[in-house]
This record gives sequence, C-alpha cells and structure tokens, in this order.
Amino acid sequence: MELEGTTGLLTGAAGGLGSAMARRLAGDGVRLVLSGRNEAALGELCESLPGEGHAVVTTDLGERDAAKLLIAEAEATAGPIDLLVNNAGIETAGTYHRLEASDIERIVDINLLAPMLLTHAVIPGMLDRGRGHVVQISSAAGFSGLACNEPYAATKGALLRLTEALRATYADQPIGFSAVCPGFTKGDGMYGRMEEEGHHSNVILGTTTVQEVADAVSRSVTDDLAVTICNNRPLRPIAAISVLAPGLGARMLETSGANAVFRRIAAERES
Ligand SMILES: NC(=O)c1ccc[n+]([C@@H]2O[C@H](COP(=O)([O-])OP(=O)(O)OC[C@H]3O[C@@H](n4cnc5c(N)ncnc54)[C@H](OP(=O)(O)O)[C@@H]3O)[C@@H](O)[C@H]2O)c1
Repeated sequence: MELEGTTGLLTGAAGGLGSAMARRLAGDGVRLVLSGRNEAALGELCESLPGEGHAVVTTDLGERDAAKLLIAEAEATAGPIDLLVNNAGIETAGTYHRLEASDIERIVDINLLAPMLLTHAVIPGMLDRGRGHVVQISSAAGFSGLACNEPYAATKGALLRLTEALRATYADQPIGFSAVCPGFTKGDGMYGRMEEEGHHSNVILGTTTVQEVADAVSRSVTDDLAVTICNNRPLRPIAAISVLAPGLGARMLETSGANAVFRRIAAERES
C-alpha cells in the first residue's frame, strides 16, 4: 500500500520507537492518530510532526474494551483507518515464578490481546474500502525464548504467528499484514532505559536504532513484507537453527550472552 494520503493509527506513539515511527510515517504523508496514555507527550509529538490533520486519542490498552473503543474513536476523529501499527508494548524481565500473576495478565493484555482485538476491529472497514495494512511490532525475542523473558517472548512470538495466519487468511484480499522485529534498539525506548541502568547488548547480539525500526515499518507497508528483522547482526540463521535443531539453538543463544543480559536485569530488579 502506498502511504501518501492514508490515515494511520499508531499505538504507543509517544514511546521511544513510536515517536520515530510517527515522524517517519508523517514524513511519508500519513495522517496519524497518535495513541497512548500520556496525553501531554502525545500532544507535544503531534504538534511537532510534518503534515497536517494529525490527532491524539488517549487510551489504556490494559482495559478490556479499550481496543474496540479506540478504533471507533480514532475513526470518528480522523476518518477510516487505512494503516494500524500495533506498537504499544511493555516488558517484564523477571524470574517467572517471582512475577505476580497480575503482571503476566497485564503484559498479555497489552502486548497480545490488544493488538489482536485492534486488528480484528479494523479489518472489516479495510475490506469494505479495498485497502489497508496492519503492522505488528514484535521483537527479536519473538523468535527465541530468552531467560527471564517468558511473558514477553510468548506475546512477541504469538504476534509472528498471528501475522502469518492473517497473511494466509486474507491472501486474496487487498489488505496486508506485516511484523517488524527489532533487536536491542539504541537511542530511546525500553532498551535505551536498560542501557541507562548499565545493561548492554554485546558485539555478538548486535543492536539497531529507532530510525532503522521506523524505516522498516514504512517499508513493510509499501513492499508488503511478511517479517522484517532489524538488527546489525544476522539473527535469521539463529532463528532458523532454533526451529530445526532446538538444542543447538538454545546453546548458541546461551553462548551469545543473550540469556545473561536478562538474568542480570531480573536479579537487579529482584534484589
Ligand atoms: N526498545 C527495544 O529495544 C525494543 C526491541 C524489540 C521490540 N520492541 C517493541 O517496540 C515497541 C515499542 O517499544 P519502546 O522501546 O518504544 O518502549 P517504550 O518507550 O516503553 O514505549 C512503549 C509505549 O507503549 C505505550 N503503552 C504502554 N502501556 C500502555 C497501555 N497500558 N496502554 C496504552 N499504551 C501503552 C506507552 O505509551 P504511554 O506511556 O503514553 O501509555 C509507550 O508509548 C514495544 O512493543 C516493544 O516490545 C522494543
């Protein structure tokens, strides 16, 4: 789908990756509805974007009816939604049995249930109008279950399966579905905050930038890409090995230091 002249709904818009996506998509000519909980930050971002007609709709995606209400309010504010970017997400690095059950429910609600319900609510209008695209912001963690990352890996992995199934179901329809999988993203966002706390990726695991992720979102729509992995090291072979030979894949991940990063974060948060 060409982006110029479309209307897009971006969740988690004021976050580290979201604000870079907002700038990129607005630059591509998308009129954006920026969504999140932080009205002041969303308003400031909205004012700073190129182009006209951008709007803010606040919502807490942890609330059960939020997804349905958000699509209705976004369309009432800006008109039919052609592009949905499910970017809002949280992480809960921690030793699994030490997490509260409510932490697990919350991450599933925000990272998985909300994107599924938003996608469900937006498809009928896209089919009626004969155009539309949905991008799920998954993660490199969606390919591999890293230590102390169970809810995050489970929800991000599920977004990949969701995207595959949607592409198969609507293969003969004029609407598209993509997943974008950032690695450790430098510059801003949740990994930026981990770095500020002293937790770093290493040369084997690699990194990406908020700009590369934002560019990948734009390209996944215009080129109808199924899955884009954003990372400056090749993660695709490790993901493939993990599927074909899970024991070997797990040893490679352990050796890479990926598990160690999150074990350290969990230990620090639990101390
Ligand atoms: N940063 C990375 O290294 C990295 C790597 C791989 C994947 N990702 C994925 O990229 C996406 C963006 O991450 P980020 O790094 O930009 O994180 P971030 O800076 O923490 O931003 C997260 C965004 O999600 C929104 N959000 C959180 N809880 C919400 C709720 N209950 N209701 C509505 N919105 C909510 C926040 O909006 P408000 O504060 O306004 O509510 C915020 O804008 C996430 O899905 C994340 O899993 C990030």
